[in-house]
Amino acid sequence: MSSAAVSLARQIMRRCDELGRVSEEKSCLTRTFASSAMKRANKLVGSWMRQAGMSVQEDAAFNLIGRLPSAKRSAKTVMIGSHLDTVRNAGKYDGPLGVLLGIAVVEKLRGKKLPFHLEVVGFSDEEGVKYQTTYLGSRAMCGLLAANDLGRIREKGVARAQRSTREFLAYLEAHIEQGPVLEHVRTPVGVVSDIAGQTRIRAAFIGRAGHAGTTPMNLRRDALCGAAEMVLAAEKTGVIATVGQCAVEGGASNVIPGRASFTLDVRDVKDAKRRAACGKLRKIASAVAKRRGLALEWEIVQETPTAPMDAGLTSLLRRAAGPKARSMPSGAGHDAAVMSKVCPVAMLFVRCKGGISHHPDESVKESDVAAALDVLAGAVLELSKRHG
Ligand code: GLV
Ligand code: MN
Ligand code: MN
Repeated sequence: MSSAAVSLARQIMRRCDELGRVSEEKSCLTRTFASSAMKRANKLVGSWMRQAGMSVQEDAAFNLIGRLPSAKRSAKTVMIGSHLDTVRNAGKYDGPLGVLLGIAVVEKLRGKKLPFHLEVVGFSDEEGVKYQTTYLGSRAMCGLLAANDLGRIREKGVARAQRSTREFLAYLEAHIEQGPVLEHVRTPVGVVSDIAGQTRIRAAFIGRAGHAGTTPMNLRRDALCGAAEMVLAAEKTGVIATVGQCAVEGGASNVIPGRASFTLDVRDVKDAKRRAACGKLRKIASAVAKRRGLALEWEIVQETPTAPMDAGLTSLLRRAAGPKARSMPSGAGHDAAVMSKVCPVAMLFVRCKGGISHHPDESVKESDVAAALDVLAGAVLELSKRHG
């Protein structure tokens, strides 16, 4: 491990702590798309980008872009990125670690002449917490927002973030693993093979609200009982499926739930398997509705197919990571899935404690961050030799 990487990793850890305090909630870390906390985070990270010698811009989709131009003006652009939005009550590394590693790569390579422009991007919406549709920032940049996304979001002008993707030479993303495999095999970093596809569904059962004390159990049309059946059905689909939100609308402890809304998040690296599971869940929901006398609302909010990483760029990352680095699929979504539609992408995973993520206890080791920095910087240098 290089000594530069060790001191830069220490700086990354301190910055993750500082950024982890930029939140829209007092008691925990929550930073959603276009929130004032995100704008503050962009300001702070932007100042670190400037310190590293980059010019900085926030685009119309709230993506933060730091740029280190090549002397060759007609050069293409290599991007290193991840996201600066978070889930609710988040850990401080999911997303920010990749952005801060990108800035550290720029610092580590200071003074080197690169045959491409180097950009570090902090995307604004990988989690999809605000509208339940993920990747608004990276899709806006790549011109991949659909009309119904633009209709759904309140922030106007986001589509102006679109860039000419022909200028993109490669996209690299580092991210905490968010799972326990690297810890299990005692390896600091892993190389991603594919990012699993995902479907996000918003659904609701509508029954009849009524008196919780006077209505016999067999004469109820309880919407939450229907939703509860779907939680258990999701558990048995044979793919990765989660009901992450469930709400009784207008409920009270002495009122039979009249409307229960819930979300479904369904994932698999095999797209056909994921689609079949979603079809099966839809059928089960219809049968539950029929049997319980409920109405059903069902909306597929977003579908993202499995994204394979680019073979050439991945092998370059694997060489930089060394023979011990594990090749592994990602069950979590990443902006790299979107970027893979417009340019070659590769991803590096960093071991995290206990595989814990989407939780304030997220934790990474400084020495693993230093190892990841050496790998990323090595891959960028190798890329510069190939394109020099
Ligand atoms: C992002 O973290 C996702 O995979 O939901
Ligand atoms: Mn993430
Ligand atoms: Mn996440």
